[in-house]
Amino acid sequence: MGFGLKVIVSFTLVVVTLTLSVNLVVSTRNRQWRRDKKGLKSIANDALVIDFPGQPSADFKHYAGYVTVNENNGRALFYWFYEAMTLPNEKPLVLWLNGGPGCSSVGYGATQEIGPFLVDTDGHTLNFNPHSWNKEANMLFLESPVGVGFSYSNTTSDYSKLGDNFTANDAYNFMHKWFVKFPLYKNRNFYIAGESYAGKYVPELAELIHDRNNDPSLFIDLKGILLGNPETSDAEDWRGLVDYAWSHAVISDETHNIINKTCDFNSKNPWSNEECSDAVGVVLDQYKHIDIYSIYTSVCITDSAGSNGKSMQVMMKSTSKMMPRIMGGFDPCLDDYAKTFYNRPDVQKALHVSDGDRIRNWSICNETIFNDWLDSKTTVIPIYKKLIAAGLRVWIYSGDTDGRVPVLSTRYSLSTLGLPITKAWRPWYHQKQVSGWFQEYEGLTFATFRGAGHAVPCFKPSNSLALFSSFLLGEPLPDEQ
Ligand SMILES: *[C@@H]1O[C@H](CO)[C@@H](O)[C@H](O)[C@H]1NC(C)=O
Ligand SMILES: *[C@@H]1O[C@H](CO)[C@@H](O)[C@H](O)[C@H]1NC(C)=O
Ligand SMILES: *[C@@H]1O[C@H](CO)[C@@H](O)[C@H](O)[C@H]1NC(C)=O
Ligand SMILES: *[C@@H]1O[C@H](CO)[C@@H](O)[C@H](O)[C@H]1NC(C)=O
Ligand SMILES: *[C@@H]1O[C@H](CO)[C@@H](O)[C@H](O)[C@H]1NC(C)=O
Repeated sequence: MGFGLKVIVSFTLVVVTLTLSVNLVVSTRNRQWRRDKKGLKSIANDALVIDFPGQPSADFKHYAGYVTVNENNGRALFYWFYEAMTLPNEKPLVLWLNGGPGCSSVGYGATQEIGPFLVDTDGHTLNFNPHSWNKEANMLFLESPVGVGFSYSNTTSDYSKLGDNFTANDAYNFMHKWFVKFPLYKNRNFYIAGESYAGKYVPELAELIHDRNNDPSLFIDLKGILLGNPETSDAEDWRGLVDYAWSHAVISDETHNIINKTCDFNSKNPWSNEECSDAVGVVLDQYKHIDIYSIYTSVCITDSAGSNGKSMQVMMKSTSKMMPRIMGGFDPCLDDYAKTFYNRPDVQKALHVSDGDRIRNWSICNETIFNDWLDSKTTVIPIYKKLIAAGLRVWIYSGDTDGRVPVLSTRYSLSTLGLPITKAWRPWYHQKQVSGWFQEYEGLTFATFRGAGHAVPCFKPSNSLALFSSFLLGEPLPDEQ
């Protein structure tokens, strides 16, 4: 790796020298480019990923490594950053977060959903993703909080503090430290996107940024948030989950009636009612036989580690006030391939997480984190209100075959928000077909994806990229064929 790094450094010097010698004809844009190259060279080159095992050829650069978020305790968060495929100096910066809590944005977002290199089913090959979101933006994937993926703390007691608040604060510190390393992006238009439990993380981090922006020295140019099948408000999320199971013929009328009669999802602990808790147990039992994240597709049948992934799928802590967490993704088999890949010494070395000898144990989700999660906001609707009032762009999309955070949950949550509708429900199109429906509210856009499960981009990669592009432009989705 040392060799490769040297090559790149000297190459950059040559480029800079050449550019200087033709100074007379450089355009403004070229000058910008030259300055940018210098900036990155001096600060972030140690994070440049080179000779990434199995990587398809690509014209853009990517960077990975640790950012120390707390020096006293030795807390470091792992990120992977892909420059936009074209015009990286002009495109916005987007942070992507997956949920869990305890699941990896690298394992899900970057390598199964929206990153440029998707891990193939053999756990060794990477496939180029023509619908990668770095076509439209500079994409930053963060493994958060500590204990997730490669992220760690040298102070064991930190792990007992993990919850929404701790996570938001570390992610906030991460952004500032990351901007020190990548100063070119400091004043860039910035968006935060994520799915499932990140439905909590994203608004919480956005609120922190918004509040701290009062101090000009801490200013981050946050423009908006984008959420996919997001956990939003526990009571509405639960109601939506059971109503969706009933309306999609997963449970009987009888079970649904019991839930309707006995469950008060707005109470502090709905599970203290045993009848309610048992009936919801019946719902989750049904979902053990199919994929709750994509109710019409086949489940992964393997006899190896896959069975472990499957049992995690509908993990529930019935003693907890929290909703059962999302501990899986679209393809439980694929989770294993990702695990194989990220535990390879050559991969870890290329990503600057290990020297290639002492490898770190990487897993897609950390169950301990999930189980020990301290605090979870019961609803982020008040944060939506605040962000909308501040003029931030808020878009929410929902794959309509997800049983876990179903489209009904999102609709119930949005209805409690009570925003005025500015443009009525109508279909949106992609490649001449109805991709889903959408409705525009004052300050918020809500869109569905027809026939997509929980991790929408896995099912509808091209459509997802189209929505992402509209979101960044702040333009309505195409409502004509
Ligand atoms: C954690 O401890 C290891 C071993 O002492 C050290 O190499 C590493 O830099 C520490 N990490 C942080 C973020 O301080
Ligand atoms: C999972 O998180 C726990 C803390 O909750 C931590 O001790 C453990 O090292 C993590 N596991 C992995 C594989 O990183
Ligand atoms: C949230 O976390 C921050 C930093 O870890 C801490 O200073 C603050 O007191 C915490 N707030 C609550 C309500 O726990
Ligand atoms: C749930 O119960 C209420 C009365 O408690 C009833 O009005 C409503 O129709 C029921 N909903 C369903 C879907 O059964
Ligand atoms: C990784 O996991 C293996 C098996 O669970 C364990 O023996 C090993 O000590 C772990 N390594 C690290 C660096 O945590």
